[in-house]
Amino acid sequence: MLNGKSLIEPEDFSLSEMDYLFSLAEKIEKDEKYLRESLRGKLLATLFFEPSTRTRLSFEAAMLRLGGSCLGFAEPGSSSAAKGESLADTIRMAASYADAIVMRNPKEGAALLASRYSTVPVINAGDGGHHHPTQTLTDLLTIKRLLGKIDNLTVGFCGDLKFGRTVHSLAKALARYPKIKLIFISPKELVLPEYIKSILKKQNTDFEESENFEKLMPELDVLYMTRVQRERFFNEDDYIRLKDTYVLNTEKMALGKEKMIVLHPLPRVNEISVEIDSDPRAAYFKQAKYGMYVRMALLASILGVSEC
Ligand code: CP
Repeated sequence: MLNGKSLIEPEDFSLSEMDYLFSLAEKIEKDEKYLRESLRGKLLATLFFEPSTRTRLSFEAAMLRLGGSCLGFAEPGSSSAAKGESLADTIRMAASYADAIVMRNPKEGAALLASRYSTVPVINAGDGGHHHPTQTLTDLLTIKRLLGKIDNLTVGFCGDLKFGRTVHSLAKALARYPKIKLIFISPKELVLPEYIKSILKKQNTDFEESENFEKLMPELDVLYMTRVQRERFFNEDDYIRLKDTYVLNTEKMALGKEKMIVLHPLPRVNEISVEIDSDPRAAYFKQAKYGMYVRMALLASILGVSEC
């Protein structure tokens, strides 16, 4: 179904293609032997020009669990990018060695550019403050698995909505599902970019913006916390002033619904107090594990494995 396709932003896949991936991920989760060895002989290049724990390791774990192999780099200093090689040339090389490329890059649009020079599928593992579509697949699968649906939900995003690429990708993706209300909670310096708001308006998505966390918390079915993205700030003083604007603690959790779930793409810095980790509504570590299953489903699909 997805054989040979690149994934640069969430809209590259139709809702039925995403449903297919979620079903496949659920089958793999329930039976970890399912599709095992199906990618034997295939190679995945993981090119990380920015730091990562979950995305890189979960892609590598996914490929290895499917019987395939990985090559690549975890930081650009160990590649010829440090000698001035262009992204286009790096991609041409990786495409000649591997069957698919996963790339994270600090520049918005880098993944799209890579897909134009690649002869193999390119998966965007985050391009600057723009998009992170495999995190979106992870987030949607987590919502589906834990709440049983991805429609008729109120989803609150809290924190750095300006630079948070996971927020941009997930907000656009959720807007494709029926009866979704989005609530964006941030300091005014870190509001959602206008281009995302204009997409939501065109799709007639019900959304509101606020700085008042406590007032909106009781409405939420999903609370999506985010880290203030220090690496995207031009000014350290601004980062220090804004970084602890919202900290989820037990007092704030007490305002939430009993069945609400708390997601976070991670890494967490200070915005979720560790005391919340034992609350049954805290789903962010489960979410990270679902990320591996959905990446297994994605790799199996784009590398052309037909289901057993
Ligand atoms: N969620 C996420 O992208 O985490 P990493 O930066 O650790 O890959």
